[in-house]
Amino acid sequence: MTISIIPKPQSMTVGEGVFSITAETIIVAADEAVPVAELLASLLRTATGYDLPIQAEGEGGIQLILDEGSPSEEYALNVTPEQVTLSATAPVGLFRGMQTLRQLLPVAIENDKATEAAWDIPSVQIEDAPRFGWRGIHLDVGRHFFDVEFVKQFIDVMALYKYNIFHWHLTEDQGWRIEIKKYPKLTAIGSKRKETPLPADRHTGDGEPYSGFYTQDEVREVVAYAADRHITVIPEIEMPGHALAALAAYPELGCVGEGYEVWTIWGISKDVFCAGKEAVFTFLEDVLTEVLDLFPSEIIHIGGDECPKDRWEVCPDCQARMKEEGLADEHELQSYFIQRMEKWLNAQGRQIVGWDEILEGGLAPNATVMSWRGSQGGIDAANAGHDVVMTPNTNCYLDYYQSEDLDSQPPAIGGYVSLKRAYEFQPIPEDIDPEKAHHVLGGQGNVWTEYIPTTDQVMYMTYPRALALAEVMWSYPEDRDYVDFRTRVDAHYPRLGKLGVNYCELDDDPI
Ligand code: ACM
Ligand code: ZN
Repeated sequence: MTISIIPKPQSMTVGEGVFSITAETIIVAADEAVPVAELLASLLRTATGYDLPIQAEGEGGIQLILDEGSPSEEYALNVTPEQVTLSATAPVGLFRGMQTLRQLLPVAIENDKATEAAWDIPSVQIEDAPRFGWRGIHLDVGRHFFDVEFVKQFIDVMALYKYNIFHWHLTEDQGWRIEIKKYPKLTAIGSKRKETPLPADRHTGDGEPYSGFYTQDEVREVVAYAADRHITVIPEIEMPGHALAALAAYPELGCVGEGYEVWTIWGISKDVFCAGKEAVFTFLEDVLTEVLDLFPSEIIHIGGDECPKDRWEVCPDCQARMKEEGLADEHELQSYFIQRMEKWLNAQGRQIVGWDEILEGGLAPNATVMSWRGSQGGIDAANAGHDVVMTPNTNCYLDYYQSEDLDSQPPAIGGYVSLKRAYEFQPIPEDIDPEKAHHVLGGQGNVWTEYIPTTDQVMYMTYPRALALAEVMWSYPEDRDYVDFRTRVDAHYPRLGKLGVNYCELDDDPI
């Protein structure tokens, strides 16, 4: 029996024989282990047709055990022909271990109806824990909108590969996607655009009105669904740039104050939130007040990337602000903006993360930096003692082409990140002082969706590269081997297929 677990566990010994799940198998779990047992039972029910009972006590079967100790994602899985023992110090560890157990079962486990498969689990002894505490995937729902049903499926597949962060990019120039009760025009106006550029030709519109947003009830539903799968949802509310949809709804928040439309092209809009007008900060605090109520995550993403300074340079309010605050240039004005929002969010008990441009003009004191323009921003921030999340476009941008044979692929934004290149991602580059390496919280794959109009294409761009990133963020460099990984990926294609994931399988994926 070939074992193909992704991400690769820290340590695994294969024993003799198998544990067979039958109609008589019991699941033993008590107290806080019960929700994980219920998820396991439901997975087994749909696949095997067996309705396995969950009991608080009993011998044999599948035992989910919560040990004493500080809560963590660490788990131990011991399978013998007599019993499966999954133990951890917290439900999150049991949940991660359950994903390993799932991957030890036949691929048919991912099916949604009973099959005739033999439900054998090979005897193994696994001890496992992640290298990093931030293992994320980002999804841009601004350029294209994906409904709650899909977002849940996306989260489900992330859970199988032990991801723990879903970074939800909710606001953009091309659409505001989250209901804010105090500002109804954000969705009434800001969630709609007149048309969308054609995928193969970024200069021509398709003439089709486009819209979509999540109600607050839907957001709550997604956050709860993710929490049940031990995934934290980090919302991103972009500022000061990528704000055109908000300006279309509330023009008074821009420097010019009129003439804005939700964008119908891709790129970087010069129209951004005005940094001089007090109304902008009141607005953002009000918006974030509702956002904080929806998202329990301690960390909130405030964007911060790609904010052209053209409007600020000629805006009397922005210039007056610079004078009043003694700011030397517009980069310092951006820094003022972010630091002011950080101070407010810190006072609400939250922390900020922002794209690496927040380093320009002076970094907010408690900010975490998300390094995307390569790794340099992350290196500089970590060496300066800031926490960082590594998501360099060179390895982590899942909107880039995954094949060099561009004609074989749907139109993409450009770039090239092969499966192998994703696997070569080093979250802690050599230029980080070893004493500062602990500031690297982890990494994530980013799915920007300018060229990704459908849910099938989201999956196509995400998988299998997200398997490579999952392994990189879970395991240590000395334990990684691309050829071995690539072989395991082959075993996951049918699993992904059973889950309805439209993965990309390339003949030219170099081994
Ligand atoms: C980014 O890709 N603009 C963060
Ligand atoms: Zn201004």
